[in-house]
Amino acid sequence: MSKIVILTGAGISAESGIDTFRAEDGLWAQHRVEDVATPEGFARDPQLVVDFYNGRRKQAAEVSPNAAHQALARLQANYAGQVVIVTQNVDDLHEQGGAQVIHMHGALNSALCAACDHRWPAPMVMAVGDPCPACNAPAARPDIVWFGEMPNDMDEIFDHLAEADIFAAIGTSGNVYPAAGFVAEARRNGAHTVELNLERSAVGNQFAEHRTGPATRVVTDWVEQLLSTPPQQ
Ligand code: NAD
Ligand code: APR
Repeated sequence: MSKIVILTGAGISAESGIDTFRAEDGLWAQHRVEDVATPEGFARDPQLVVDFYNGRRKQAAEVSPNAAHQALARLQANYAGQVVIVTQNVDDLHEQGGAQVIHMHGALNSALCAACDHRWPAPMVMAVGDPCPACNAPAARPDIVWFGEMPNDMDEIFDHLAEADIFAAIGTSGNVYPAAGFVAEARRNGAHTVELNLERSAVGNQFAEHRTGPATRVVTDWVEQLLSTPPQQ
């Protein structure tokens, strides 16, 4: 059975109602990245950062997974153990749709202790100085990977890319590394590469195949095709 590695970005959650980052009216148009998505920003004004992620956690709790999230969960369930989903998203819509994912940029519903690295389920409203349940330090922070920090699980992700027969990128602009470099790594390992997006991404020219349109349509069609004609053994 072929191994399928899928990278998702903000675009897969767009039709559920969650803002993407680089759209005209996206998150980075409403907030300065330096203020809310960097360790320096957190050190400078932790209240602004905690409020920003409290707002995103509230928004994520009010929306539902869409047909694209559900299609990926069907694919993963049908090819047990052979479909790996890596998401740059911090919402839990993949999990709500029934899939298991690797959160390379962290997760809104997780809290991290800046003193001892302990993780625990985040409260809906985090406060600056919340105590860590493990070491009791007043050091709770959003469990989000900020610019300048190392994304999660990179060794595991590159192990999956080494074995991928198919690599798909869904709803990501290809602007941010290391995720934007995954397609080149998959091609080096001989994978067939497919980009599913409203438009060509910044690394679109590196994909062998493109499926252009909203994720709820193009991801659903792609999964139905894979389920009806299983990739070569
Ligand atoms: P980086 O600093 O190398 O930046 C690489 C890309 O990030 C840039 O090409 C640009 O597309 C984007 N970027 C950086 N500064 C930006 C800005 N001011 N406005 C808009 N886009 C900007 O990224 P990094 O240091 O390697 O970041 C480490 C990881 O943290 C990355 O994978 C990044 O995606 C992640 N991150 C996550 C969140 C989040 O909220 N989940 C926010 C920021 C960064
Ligand atoms: N269907 C498919 N693709 C879509 C849809 C949709 N309905 N709506 C938007 N897109 C695509 C856009 O064309 C764009 O390519 O989703 C992508 C969104 O790009 P970004 O806003 O840059 O989001 P993303 O690629 O996930 O950003 C990567 O950058 O700021 C950091 O850590 C942050 O995880 C984020 C990372």
